[in-house]
Amino acid sequence: MKPLSLFLRRNLLVLSITGLMGLTTATGATYDQNTLESPSITITNSAPRSGEAIYNQVCTMCHSIGVAGAPKFGNAGDWAPRSAKGYDELLASALRGLNAMPPRGTCSQCSDEEILNAIKYMVEHSK
Ligand code: HEC
Repeated sequence: MKPLSLFLRRNLLVLSITGLMGLTTATGATYDQNTLESPSITITNSAPRSGEAIYNQVCTMCHSIGVAGAPKFGNAGDWAPRSAKGYDELLASALRGLNAMPPRGTCSQCSDEEILNAIKYMVEHSK
């Protein structure tokens, strides 16, 4: 009797392990698919995002209310001395950071072009 029950138990164990692995794999696959289709990942692989999109996702957290002296969105007085420098210089300081302004405004995933788009968006809407 003993060998038989041992045999049965082993087989049951193998069956349940296989079952569990099937479940895990299925769940894992679904999860991966969701991750791949999530907006953040799709976005980084697509064409450059607009200045408006970058501003609303990233720059707004400081530039809407002027955190730590950030030139405020829509405030011509704040932006006039900045835009006088020209886009080349504004882009350069945005990329490397300036005092309390972190490099790339914290957006390490933004391309140079996307940072420039966001700068232009702020400058154009602050005249
Ligand atoms: C954590 C807060 C913060 C975020 C986020 C932020 N900025 Fe700034 N930004 C600042 C501050 C503070 C200044 C003013 C720095 C100074 O002149 O001392 C500034 C200044 C600037 C300037 C003027 C630079 C110059 O040369 O005068 C530009 C351009 C700029 N930010 C672009 C951006 C862009 C584009 C983003 C989004 C991608 C962004 N910032 C996100 C805080 C921030």
